[in-house]
Parts: sequence; C-alpha cells; structure tokens
Amino acid sequence: VGEADAEYLVSLVRSVPGFPNENVLFRDFMPVLADARGFQIMMKALELALPVPISEFDYVAGLEARGFLIGPTLAYNLGKGFVAVRKAGKLPPETIGKSYDLEYGQARVEIEQGTVKPGDRVLIVDDLIATSGTAQAAADLIEQAGGKVVGFSFVMELIGLNGRGSLGQVPCSSLITMH
Ligand code: ADE
Repeated sequence: VGEADAEYLVSLVRSVPGFPNENVLFRDFMPVLADARGFQIMMKALELALPVPISEFDYVAGLEARGFLIGPTLAYNLGKGFVAVRKAGKLPPETIGKSYDLEYGQARVEIEQGTVKPGDRVLIVDDLIATSGTAQAAADLIEQAGGKVVGFSFVMELIGLNGRGSLGQVPCSSLITMH
C-alpha cells in the first residue's frame, strides 16, 4: 500500500491511556474495521506483508477474540481454512490445550481435537503482539497437534517488550510498530 494509505491506517488506531489498568496505553484497532477504506487497506497490507509465501501454509489460525476478526477475513481472501484458537472452556470436548503464564496468574488456549492434523502448515494471526505469551502458547498448541507454525502476522507490534524475540526463528510480520 502507498504512503497515504499507510498513514490513513495508522490514524485510525485509537490509543486509550489507562485501560484496562493504569499503566497501559491500550491500542484499539476496532475503528480500523469500522472504516470501509481502513479495513481494505489493513487486509491488503496484511496480504502484502505475509511473512512467508502464500504457498507455504494451509491454514490461518486466529487468536480469540480480535484474531477472530482478521483471521477469517485473511483466510477467505487467500483461499485457506481458518482455525480458531480459543480461550479455555469455550469449546466442547475433545479439546487440546496449552496453559501459559500471565503477569499475574495463568491462562489457557484450546483448539478442537482434530482441527489441526500432523503436517498441517499454519500461519498465526492476531491484531497485536505485546509480550507474545498468547501467540507462543498458540504456536506450542498447534505443534502439539502435529502442525507446523510457519509464520506470524500481526497488525500492531509493541516494541520494547521483545515479543518478536521470544517467537524464535519463525518469520513474523507486523504492519505498525508502536510503543
Ligand atoms: N494487549 C497487550 N497490550 C496491549 C495494548 N497496549 N493494547 C491493546 N492490546 C494489548
């Protein structure tokens, strides 16, 4: 996308100081989706910035909840299947899951057993990468199912938290970097 489109996309991200707690500058991308031109720019930019060629993955996996908005849209545009990586307790059995540490406490992500099969190649997408805890747990879960995580695509990347560094060698792309 061109420079004017990139600037327009960035201008649509809403920054909310003090949400959900006082030390966070929350980056809200919902206004991008609400804007017809912004939504198209974002989806086109995600396609242009794919971290691996389109022929190198079979599925797009989206992380609950905001990854459920861009993931299926991207998968549909690329002719791929979509896999929902859900928060714990939403799916009926049989599921497989992976627990991970948060700053305080633990969280868990789950997928339906059988949705990712051995050898499936998966691109993981979400709106934002911060510490990468959720993305890393999702990647571990997909690999636990026998799949291979070939890349990560994010709309926004918070730099300074080294989220990208903790994803290891797997290619990762983001459209907007911010603090
Ligand atoms: N997730 C983690 N940090 C965030 C932030 N600053 N804005 C939105 N989502 C987040």
